Parts: sequence; structure tokens; C-alpha cells
Amino acid sequence: MNQPDIPPVLVTGATGRIGGVVIDQLLDAGVPVRALTHRSEAAVTLPAKVEVFTGDLTVPESLDPALSGTGAVFLVWTAPPQTAAAVVERMAAQVRRVVFLSSPHQTPHPFFQQPNPMSAMHADIERLIAATGLESTIIRPGMLASNSLAWWAPAIRAGEAVRWPYGAAETAPVDDRDVAAVAARTLYQDGHVGGGYVLTGPESLTQAAQVSVIGDALGRRIAFEEMTPDEFRNLSKGTAPSSVVDMLLAAWSAAVGQPAYATTAVADILGTAPRTLRQWAADHTTAFTESSNGSEGS
Ligand SMILES: NC(=O)c1ccc[n+]([C@@H]2O[C@H](COP(=O)([O-])OP(=O)(O)OC[C@H]3O[C@@H](n4cnc5c(N)ncnc54)[C@H](OP(=O)(O)O)[C@@H]3O)[C@@H](O)[C@H]2O)c1
Repeated sequence: MNQPDIPPVLVTGATGRIGGVVIDQLLDAGVPVRALTHRSEAAVTLPAKVEVFTGDLTVPESLDPALSGTGAVFLVWTAPPQTAAAVVERMAAQVRRVVFLSSPHQTPHPFFQQPNPMSAMHADIERLIAATGLESTIIRPGMLASNSLAWWAPAIRAGEAVRWPYGAAETAPVDDRDVAAVAARTLYQDGHVGGGYVLTGPESLTQAAQVSVIGDALGRRIAFEEMTPDEFRNLSKGTAPSSVVDMLLAAWSAAVGQPAYATTAVADILGTAPRTLRQWAADHTTAFTESSNGSEGS
């Protein structure tokens, strides 16, 4: 049930993995939702109750109609960084509150402390937000469980071994639904202004063990074969920027031989335990068995 006295929340990245679930969570809580779509054709996937605006983070003035009359923004930045300052300035002029999807770049674990252009951009945007005086909350997920859809699902669907570098690297994959639920909670519940939440899954697992967990959910063994970093670089050419590939390799290399960083933030905020990778995999088996583009979300 919508409560007309609550100003709407504008969700950016509305058609993305996290933003889409944030919208569902806000609607469930009775919060009116505006969705920003970049490609207008993407709007067909959004719930009927959402008020849809088209806008582009690289064209700051295009956001004005969506920002006008909005109470809070869920900000997902997937655009180049050049227009971030202008966008944050426009937000601050029209909106009271922002929840920003960032990363754990301040966390003193080697996995999060490797050279990382994405982290640098997140840190810059956080500084811009802080300088405006906007009420803010920063959401910092570690490795998303759904990354495996793009990384490993194609080989698994083809019945092949998963070939991947740094099989011994440990991460604590966090379920996208938990990240979105925390983000939504901080948008409609009091007490989160100034919060910065590092969100992880409950357990540290090597990448090879994660593939094995997915195999368990599918009821079959999936072979894991170690790939060298150079093979990974060559295979990733044309599909991912080299800076992203180098960032991942450095992070995984630093994560071998030590448990992943894990927090209790999901449970602290939601009052329920974070979903395990086993749960995530059980809920996503079709993505590993049926023809799909590998980008299916939760
Ligand atoms: N993967 C991880 O493990 C991980 C961990 C921590 C943090 N993160 C952060 O999570 C964020 C990505 O979130 P996600 O996975 O939910 O996103 P996503 O699934 O990659 O979706 C991208 C979204 O951004 C929108 N978009 C793209 N370019 C745009 C533009 N110029 N203007 C306005 N909107 C634009 C897209 O809208 P259209 O569909 O309309 O084009 C889409 O909704 C990144 O900042 C990433 O660094 C990821």
C-alpha cells in the first residue's frame, strides 16, 4: 500500500542487478518509486507501479525531471566518472538523501586494497556526496554471488570444465538480494544517515569451492581447471577492459591463502542471516542449465 505523504525514492540502475531488487523491496514496503532508465526500451521490465523517467548520468540536466519532487536517490554509478560532480550537485539541489552503491575500498583486507580504478571512482563520488551535506548512506558489497552468471555459467551450461585463475583465492560472495534489501532498508528506515555498510556473504570459500557449490545445486560435479593469469588476460580481450581484468587478477592473487573478509552487517541491519552461496545457487539453477545471456539477476 502506497503512503501518499512519503516522497518517492528515485532508483538509478533500475534495470540492473541491484537496482531492480531495490525497487521490489521499496514497493513491498509501500514506498513510492521512480525509476531512472538509461535505455528507454529497458523500462518494459519494470513493475507497473513504478513511475519511469528516462535520463543519462553522462547528461546531468537530463536527470532534472526525475529529481524534482524526489525525497531520496539510490545512486548506482556505471557511467564514466566525468559527470559525477555535476550529477551530485544537481541531486543536492533537489533531494535530501542519497544511498550510494559503492565498494569496500576502505576495508583493510588485501583483497580490497589492490590497484582498482572502480574503487578510486567510488571514493571520489563519496567525497563529492560528503561535500554537499546530503544525508547519505554508503553500501559497500564485496564480491556479488551473481558474478558467477557471467563468469562461470557459460562453461557450466555447455557441460564444460570451469577454467579460471586463482582457484585458491577466497571470497565471501554476497547474495544480490541481501545487498538490495539492505539498500532499500536504509532508504525508508530511520537511523542509517552516515552509515557505511560493508556487506558480505556468511562464509569464506575458494573460487574452486564456489564452483563446487554450484555443482551441488545442479546435482552434478563440475570440474575446475586452473588457468594462468596470462591465459585469463588473453581470453578476456574484447569482453572486459584490461584495467578491470588486471584489477580482478590482483585482488584474487592477494586473496590466496587467507580467509575472505566477512561481516555481520546484513544480519545486523535485516535481522536475518545473510543468504549462503548454496541458497543463491539453489535459487538460480536455471541460469546454469538453460540457454541464457549470463546476465540474469536474482
Ligand atoms: N559486481 C560486483 O561484485 C560488485 C561489487 C561491489 C560493487 N559493485 C558495483 O555495483 C555497481 C553495478 O551495479 P549493478 O550490478 O546493479 O548494475 P548493472 O546490473 O551492471 O546495471 C547497470 C545499470 O546502470 C544503468 N546505466 C548504465 N549506463 C547509464 C547511464 N549513462 N546513465 C544512467 N544509467 C546507466 C543501466 O541502465 P539501462 O539498462 O537503462 O542501460 C543499468 O540499470 C557498480 O558501481 C559496481 O562497481 C559491483
